[in-house]
Amino acid sequence: MRPKPAESVVLLDPSQIYRPEEEYSEYNEFIISRTDKTVKDFRNYDVNLQTDKVHLTYRMMHENQTMDFVKEKKESWCCLDKFKMTIMEAVHMLDALVDESDPDTDLPNSVHAFQTAERIRVAHPDKDWFHLIGLLHDLGKVMALWGEPQYCVVGDTFPLGCKFSENIVFPETFTNNPDTKVAEYSSKYGIYEPNCGLDNITMSWGHDEYMYQVLTGNNCKLPKEGLYMIRYHSFYPWHCNGDYNYLCNEEDREMLKWVKEFNKFDLYSKSDAVPDVEAVTPYYEELIAKYCPGQLSW
Ligand SMILES: [Fe+2]
Ligand SMILES: [Fe+2]
Repeated sequence: MRPKPAESVVLLDPSQIYRPEEEYSEYNEFIISRTDKTVKDFRNYDVNLQTDKVHLTYRMMHENQTMDFVKEKKESWCCLDKFKMTIMEAVHMLDALVDESDPDTDLPNSVHAFQTAERIRVAHPDKDWFHLIGLLHDLGKVMALWGEPQYCVVGDTFPLGCKFSENIVFPETFTNNPDTKVAEYSSKYGIYEPNCGLDNITMSWGHDEYMYQVLTGNNCKLPKEGLYMIRYHSFYPWHCNGDYNYLCNEEDREMLKWVKEFNKFDLYSKSDAVPDVEAVTPYYEELIAKYCPGQLSW
């Protein structure tokens, strides 16, 4: 018998509440203004590390995500036999994820999906597929409702099977990752050939890769630019710091600008307006019918 989803899960997405990169300083100020933290709390890694949920989530992630772990998750999730539902059902299912990082709990999680989509729609009116990417980019987080721990659902992603970049957040938390003891995973290229392409890389398991598998496994007709956005939007070490470029092929480098373009719209901003979800839903239903219609296998 298939497992039933939890009715609600408190979810914290560290990618959304903590960005160490300088280019996100304005974003960090904004997030901090909505919490009881100060800039110092976010910047000073040494203060209260054991109780800092962001740090704890990344520590769990960096200690548990190994090549074997990801293989297991792929075997479990990529056969898409958990449930059937439409994209719009999944958008509203996200509302059962209570965002722990957001004190404004009145806003359902689906609002982030519509906000991202509507921001993209304003900036790129001619690219309807891009609007839809905004709506569905985080739907892979439904894994949390089926009992997956946060450290393999949310947060930044990174390659396995090669040396962990120093630019991954909290790099010191990899010390207890069993893969660091495997000699063939410890060099710059690890088990990979130079410029082998991201498609040949085993990434840490999370909502990006799962949603990519859902879309491709259901033969959705989204362009490859959109699929890259879905698959790598949490791969901050790559699209923000330029790490792992030596594993990329020409197509990855060509697609990087699209992933960067998407990320401009993903993080919360000061100018956020809450969209009229009811009013814009028919537009997105049309896009869903065009690109990923009907009940999908998840
Ligand atoms: Fe995401
Ligand atoms: Fe997002």
